[in-house]
Order: sequence, then structure tokens, then C-alpha cells
Amino acid sequence: MSLILAIETSCDETAAAIIEDGHIIHSNVVASQIDIHRAYGGVFPEIASRQHVFDIVPVIQAAIHEAGSSWDDLDALAVTRGPGLAGSLLVGANTAKAIAWGRGLPIVAVNHLEGHLYSNWLDEGDKIVPSAITRPSPPELDAAGEAFPLLVLIVSGGHTELIVMAGHGEYRRLGATLDDAAGEAFDKVARLIGLDYPGGPAIQAAAEGGNPLAFAFPRGLTNYAIQPEHRYNFSFSGLKTAVLRQVRELGEGPLPVADLAASFQAAVVDVLISKTAHAAQLLNVKRICVCGGVAANKALRESVAARLPVPASIPPFFLCTDNASMIGAAAHYRLSTGGPSALDFDVEPNLALEMRE
Ligand code: KG4
Ligand code: ZN
Repeated sequence: MSLILAIETSCDETAAAIIEDGHIIHSNVVASQIDIHRAYGGVFPEIASRQHVFDIVPVIQAAIHEAGSSWDDLDALAVTRGPGLAGSLLVGANTAKAIAWGRGLPIVAVNHLEGHLYSNWLDEGDKIVPSAITRPSPPELDAAGEAFPLLVLIVSGGHTELIVMAGHGEYRRLGATLDDAAGEAFDKVARLIGLDYPGGPAIQAAAEGGNPLAFAFPRGLTNYAIQPEHRYNFSFSGLKTAVLRQVRELGEGPLPVADLAASFQAAVVDVLISKTAHAAQLLNVKRICVCGGVAANKALRESVAARLPVPASIPPFFLCTDNASMIGAAAHYRLSTGGPSALDFDVEPNLALEMRE
């Protein structure tokens, strides 16, 4: 058995978790700063890093306490190296390095996107509400040789990517967004129609009472006959502009916020699902994993269950948005394929997922 203490501070959540063998969650502690940043309409980087400094030690202590572990039980440290905000990343990386050095433990520097991807490898444990979709445990799939090739859709605040995974740590990028990420589009459109930060949950809530057919918003880059080279790429800036134009056209008076939210959300979900389904069919993959903050979206989850052509998995809500459990899961597989990182690694705010086939 290997027990990893994982730390994640790439954006505005201070998170720590204890993970066994890459999939069993012993504890998962997240201190969210959302209430602090809401006043600014988005993440305020300097305030985020200062808040991480306040929260990091109590969050780590809580993770160890909740797991019923002691420092002596730990086999390795894991921490997010990038992408993310430099000041935020530094707090987690320096704390993890100090613990690793002090206790003589190996450390694994993890790519945040690889973390999101491995959120699909985590067991949900007892305390946890099951996800909308039943999924066999990925370690079981691995053992049966059934996990790969796997198609991964990462949809977060900063990224929207379609990736084929041939094995652990082996990635090939099919496509990505040419402009805004899906989560970024949710956040920007929310502001346009007068909703709070973060926009994803606010749009989802507003859309509940709305008609998704009220406005015919564009589905960017989905005409594969005209633009086959963009079949795996995404573009959400045209959609954002279409919402803006619609808002201006509606003029004075109260906006039909519910209908705007529902129609926008339907357009995003439609694009994400149709491109993922298209790729799965063309590439003959065995499974699909959807992950990242936007994977928490209820409408997307329903479409994943209803419209994808091969078995798909999506983590439970609390593992979609930023957390440290996913960093611990990714680190477990990194350790077994590439070994630990050197203690002098640096944070990398623009780190991309390393492609290896
Ligand atoms: O993965 P994440 O927590 O952080 C990044 O790595 O970016 O994703 C945050 C993004 C935000 O843009 C947020 O609006 C979006 O995920 N999000 C959602 C929902 N919950 C969070 N988008 C749509 N529906 C949701 N329920
Ligand atoms: Zn994230």
C-alpha cells in the first residue's frame, strides 16, 4: 500500500488529500476562496496567494486528521506544479517541498490537467454521493485491459481539450479551444446577463426555469464538412458574442435571464457532446472520461449519460472542481511510470500536458 499526501493550490482553492494506491480517498479537504473573490467578479491573484498562505497548514492538518493518519504513514508527497497562477502555485509547491525535505520523502510534481484526468480513477468512498453515472472502477478496468484507448474531454475554467490516452501517462492531443475555455465562457456570459461569479453554477441554477430553445445560439466549429480540420477543436467566443448581441437587441427592461442561461448552456453542452461523440466514433475508443470544473454541470452530465456512443464516466461533483485527491491519483501513476521529481523543480504557470504516445 502506498499513501500519498497531495496538495493543490493552483487557483482559488486550498486543498489537501490523503490517497491510497491512486484511487482510495482517505480524506479530501478543500478550503474554497469563492466568497472572497466574488466581490471582484473573478479570481484576484494576489489575494488568492495570500489566502493560500493562511489556509495551507490548517488544510493539510485537517487532511491528516480526517484520514486518521500520522505523518509516519506517508510514503510520498504530491503537489500541483502548473498550469495556474504563479503566486498560488508557489504556496503549495514550497509547502510540499518543505514537508518532503523535512521528512525525507519523495515528491511528485503534477500537471493540474493530468490531475483532472485522473479524477476519474478515484473511488468515491463511503461518505460520498454517487455520481449520476455508474462506472466500473478504473483499476478494475486496467486489470482487465479494458481501460485504453480512452478518450478524455477536459473542460475547466482555463482549458477545453480532447485527448486520447493510450496508457498511463501517454497522451495525444486531438484538439483544444481556439479562444475561450468552456468554463471561461460560462463565467463571461454569466457576467453579461447579470449573474455572479463563478458563472457555471450561477448559469446552471438560472437555466433550471428557462427554455433551452428560446434563443438559437451558434454551435461553433461543428460543420465538419466545411471545416474538417477543426473537427476536434472548440470555439466559444462566437457564442459569447451572440449572447451579447441578443442582450443588446432585447434593450431596456428586465432580461429573460432564465431563457438566455438555458439557451447558452444548451449550446455549450451540445458542442462538447457532439465533438466528443464524433471523436469516439472515428477513433474507435473503448471508453470516454469527462473531467474538469464544467463536468459538474447537470445538463452536461445528463447528456454524457444519454448521448455518448461508448461507456463514459464522469467523477462525482466534488471531484470535478479543483481538489487535491485528483493530484494524489495522478501522482501515484507518475511515480510508477516516471519516478519522483527533483526537489528543485519550479512552478510553471503555463505548463501544458506533456504529449507522449
Ligand atoms: O476545474 P476548475 O475548478 O478550475 C480550473 O482548473 O479552471 O473549473 C472551474 C470552472 C469555472 O469556470 C466554473 O464556472 C466552472 O468550472 N464550473 C461550472 C460548474 N461548476 C463549475 N460550469 C458549468 N456548470 C457548473 N455546475
Ligand atoms: Zn482545475
